[in-house]
Amino acid sequence: MDGATEAITSEGEKKQAAVVRLKNVGLRGVTVADTKISHVDGENGILIYRGFRIEELARNSTFEETAYLLHHDRLPTEEELGEFKEKLIEARQVPRFVFDALKNLPKASLPMDVLQAAIPILATADGDLKDETREANMARAIRLIARVPGIVAGWQRIREGSEPVAPEAALSHAANFLWQLTGRQPDAEIARDLDTILVLHADHSFNASTFACREVVSTQAHMYTGAAAGVGALSGSLHGGANARVMKMLLELRDELDIPGWVKSQLASGRKIMGMGHAVYKTMDPRAPFLKDMCFRLGTKLHEERWCRLSTQIEEAATKEFNAQGKTTIRPNVDFYSASVYHLMGIPLDLMTPVFAVARIAGWTAHIIEEKFADAQEKPALYRPLSEYVGHYCGKTGCVYEPLGERKG
Ligand SMILES: CC(C)(COP(=O)(O)OP(=O)(O)OC[C@H]1O[C@@H](n2cnc3c(N)ncnc32)[C@H](O)[C@@H]1OP(=O)(O)O)[C@@H](O)C(=O)NCCC(=O)NCCS
Repeated sequence: MDGATEAITSEGEKKQAAVVRLKNVGLRGVTVADTKISHVDGENGILIYRGFRIEELARNSTFEETAYLLHHDRLPTEEELGEFKEKLIEARQVPRFVFDALKNLPKASLPMDVLQAAIPILATADGDLKDETREANMARAIRLIARVPGIVAGWQRIREGSEPVAPEAALSHAANFLWQLTGRQPDAEIARDLDTILVLHADHSFNASTFACREVVSTQAHMYTGAAAGVGALSGSLHGGANARVMKMLLELRDELDIPGWVKSQLASGRKIMGMGHAVYKTMDPRAPFLKDMCFRLGTKLHEERWCRLSTQIEEAATKEFNAQGKTTIRPNVDFYSASVYHLMGIPLDLMTPVFAVARIAGWTAHIIEEKFADAQEKPALYRPLSEYVGHYCGKTGCVYEPLGERKG
């Protein structure tokens, strides 16, 4: 429904009506704030973090260096990176009482719910949450980046009936996560691939979860509340939850002989092909080719190419169908091939979205700090959009309140 109201009189009101015209479209096309952290050029399939193309970072950087970049507006020197890594390693140990609290939860709890619940518990170990200096927030960001992997891995251990594994200081961020998840020394190639995945997922401008983080802390709530909101938003199947839905689709289709037929009937019945399409990219998501290559390489290494082959079959059949419908912009997104890669890495289906959070916590915390300190705008601003009331209306006096016993229904 169009936002222009009937009773526009002044020039000012007309101007405002023009601004609020974009509604009921999920804020598509609405620029809500400035940011210096990352940029998505959806028309040309370009993603940059602090000026650097994602391809360049995926090929050359590490998660630790990328997290530094997102937080500091430039790449670190060797010494700065060393110090940053040290701080992350020192902060890795999740406080015992967080795990004790998780041990009381039903084992069937969804890992994203557990992660979302654990973050405010983590806040209680923070000390002075009223300290809102930049230094205090940066220290919080480091603790969150360092501990989210430990929480995700720890919950996997707890629900399996074993104890969380203590972090290993000699391992990289990605390798340590795999170590804490399995209790086994990770394969070096798989750890390096996971590191690249974390780089690819670390930030993505004002996506739904990042916006949730920023909106929450615009009230001056502390960083942990924003991060918990981010986890909640990420859990949805139209956002981070899509990777697990892709894997579910692949598992269901493992014996399907007629993929084009399945794609046709899926679309004809109005259902979605998970992992395809994007709210901003109108061409190939620049992260997808890395994951596709990784999928085939890991698949060959582990003699499990079938998931990548099946994904490619779905991609080709769906692209053909979408093109035939004139929907030429729907292409694989970051989740399409990452699902198979996670599966090949032995990551359980319902931990795929939490692994996304392990990466995105770097971006979320950078955005939270940018929002709190108005680093990209003149001064902090509380998000407070307008809505148009389209419900019952009985005039300015309001509807007549009938006592309970006199209502006819
Ligand atoms: C991500 C997503 C929500 C973006 O939605 P959007 O901004 O509305 O996308 P578009 O405007 O490009 O969609 C245009 C049309 O294509 C359809 N479409 C988009 N993605 C589709 C998909 N994966 N499968 C089937 N149809 C799809 C939409 O339903 C819409 O159809 P309509 O015009 O007949 O109503 C959507 O592509 C989607 O649901 N994808 C699957 C979930 C997913 O992978 N999410 C992870 C995103 S990183």
